[in-house]
Amino acid sequence: MSEKIVRNVGIIGTGSYVPEKILTNKDLENMMDTSDEWITTRTGIKERRIAREDESTSDMSYEAALKALEDAGVKPEELDLIIVASVTPDMAFPATACLIQDRLGAKKAGAFDLEAGCSGFVYGLSVGWQFVATGLYDKVLVVGAETLSRIINWDDRNTAVLFGDGAGAAVLAPVDEPGILSCELGSRGDGGELLKMEAGGSRTPASLDTVRQKKHSIYMAGNEVYKFAVRIMGEASLRVIEKAGLSKEDIDYFIPHQANIRIIDSARKRLGLPKEKVFVNLDKYGNTSSASVAIALDEAVKENKISKGDNIVLVSFGAGLTWAAIALRWIKE
Ligand code: ACO
Repeated sequence: MSEKIVRNVGIIGTGSYVPEKILTNKDLENMMDTSDEWITTRTGIKERRIAREDESTSDMSYEAALKALEDAGVKPEELDLIIVASVTPDMAFPATACLIQDRLGAKKAGAFDLEAGCSGFVYGLSVGWQFVATGLYDKVLVVGAETLSRIINWDDRNTAVLFGDGAGAAVLAPVDEPGILSCELGSRGDGGELLKMEAGGSRTPASLDTVRQKKHSIYMAGNEVYKFAVRIMGEASLRVIEKAGLSKEDIDYFIPHQANIRIIDSARKRLGLPKEKVFVNLDKYGNTSSASVAIALDEAVKENKISKGDNIVLVSFGAGLTWAAIALRWIKE
């Protein structure tokens, strides 16, 4: 670690929020040519949450942030910085982070959005870590939130069955013992074509044609992304463990991106971990992209899967293509 990094940084609080409405695989059977059996065996997903019509990414971010702040014992006005990771912000601008900064009353906080596909929350934690470690800021809120139901092409069974809505948040602060130990951020931009929402930006602005051609929804070459994910989840985890000065035998708990149970299982085997040491909730929520690791971390904490002193690995992959991993020691009782 560089000499310039002078402070230990830990996650001092977590929170999450998922919409009430549940969409099951059986419901999907009535909407398209698919089956509960196909979705369960290929992905491990049984159901997902769908936001209310009047509910957006900032609404869910706000709910998750409130819970994380309460858990951390931090008041909104103490926050120095808010980072929201999302591929489905409320709008192109202003940033969703600014919308929740206003709603929380976090008057002194800077705020910006970060986009790194499904790796966004782990990227966000890595960025927030730097600000606290250098002593520039004391309290940073990192949120991962998505309303993917708004960009699903419900006529495309290859993608429609995979995704769900939700938000998770974490508060970073200086701590006495080492908390976050290492990070690994990566990108393979030549894989950008494999997973994208093509229209609505400066390259292909929104038009009647782009709407007709469903270019405002998720396109994914599932098989290619799958092969990349299987390789990178294991590799990134091993690299971040090594950077932390640990070996895979030291890892007490593994919190991977919740995209597909077969991808999670292959990473788990690469690390030599038993199933009990791996958090899985994709059966309930599907792939919530940037929110996935954030919600999983909060649920793992609330379900007492993690204890003080545990070595934990967070790892994700996503559009970009990107990947991100963090090794950390849990510092809360
Ligand atoms: N129901 C029934 N059949 C289906 C469905 C469905 N929902 N979807 C596809 N099929 C069919 C296909 O049409 C194909 O039929 P065919 O052989 O007659 O052509 C068959 O099932 C097999 O399709 P494959 O794509 O080979 O299935 P595979 O086992 O690869 O699983 C899956 C597909 C689940 C998408 C997998 O490739 C995967 O998980 N990929 C990774 C996706 C991912 O995790 N993305 C995360 C990043 S998301 C982000 O950053 C926003």
